[in-house]
Amino acid sequence: MFILGIDTSCDDTSAAVLGEHHQVLSNVIHSQVKLHQPHGGVVPELASREHIRNIMPVVQMALDTAGLKTKEISAVAVTVGPGLIGSLLVGLYYAKGLAFGLKIPLVAVNHLEGHILSIFLEEQHPSFPFVVLTVSGGHTNIYHVRGWGEYQLLGQTLDDAAGEAFDKVSKILGLGYPGGPVLERAARGGEADKIKFPRAYLSKGSLDFSFSGLKTAVALYIKEWEKDGGNTSGVTLEDIAAAFQEAVVDVLVDKLILAAQKCGVKEVCMAGGVACNNHLRERLSQAATEHGLQAYWPRPAFCTDNGAMIGLAGYYKLKRGETADLSIDVQSRFPIG
Ligand code: KG4
Ligand code: ZN
Repeated sequence: MFILGIDTSCDDTSAAVLGEHHQVLSNVIHSQVKLHQPHGGVVPELASREHIRNIMPVVQMALDTAGLKTKEISAVAVTVGPGLIGSLLVGLYYAKGLAFGLKIPLVAVNHLEGHILSIFLEEQHPSFPFVVLTVSGGHTNIYHVRGWGEYQLLGQTLDDAAGEAFDKVSKILGLGYPGGPVLERAARGGEADKIKFPRAYLSKGSLDFSFSGLKTAVALYIKEWEKDGGNTSGVTLEDIAAAFQEAVVDVLVDKLILAAQKCGVKEVCMAGGVACNNHLRERLSQAATEHGLQAYWPRPAFCTDNGAMIGLAGYYKLKRGETADLSIDVQSRFPIG
């Protein structure tokens, strides 16, 4: 059995082929970073047009890499939400066309379920139950994962997502787009403890997040810092980047560990674009060891948006007999748990 996984939820056109036991045979990602870079963020209209241009070659490359012909595909799994409506529509209608033409099942996948399960694309993965932090440009959620399809939302951001905060602060610091990787690079050259930015822990024991206050604090700090002579003031731009990153990482790590303690699980996991951050990985690894927990995260290509995680989530939905009707529509908001 071969399952094709497609994700066009935001600005990456991705397709993957998974074989028996959800083995990844190919995972092709066409990034739109260069297209959106001059605009400092994703422009939805441009994103959907670019998906239209790329969906066929990306799927073809995924099939070629897996050494398969289109007619050998047994099912097609596709993201139906959450995401940008125009972007989602391109993937869904392409998948519907394939399913109809090949007379194969269509499996509708929630993008968040893809991120939650992405750790199973790796050989080293937790066993149920565990907790997972999905931390990306659109979401910052913690889930208790009890089994395939059994997710309980424990906490979420009340305002900005962590990746969004990285992107916005990167813009404020004039570091450019995409914010996460450039800010991480800048932070490597700075000292995090020169400035103490606020950490929003919210009420005691809360597993919710808030990053908009932190973003405002950085913006206000930058204004004063520029008046004081910028890099000549004794605090560098790199120090500010490092202090911001530290504030985000502190809260993410502390809340994930707290979630594990509350649920009584021994394994924690993170996924999504921000989980690529090396400082976050190091800090989670240390904290997990200190608390007697095992921590996991997928390789970067499986952290950022990819078709493989959609193929994997689809594989298990198909096993449960959860196929979609061809009349299914996209959903820009699609909470789970
Ligand atoms: O999962 P993803 O590719 O797309 C969404 O579903 O949002 O995540 C993209 C987000 C962006 O906000 C990006 O700035 C952030 O992940 N990101 C990072 C890093 N790499 C990507 N944030 C912090 N550090 C990184 N190294
Ligand atoms: Zn994502």
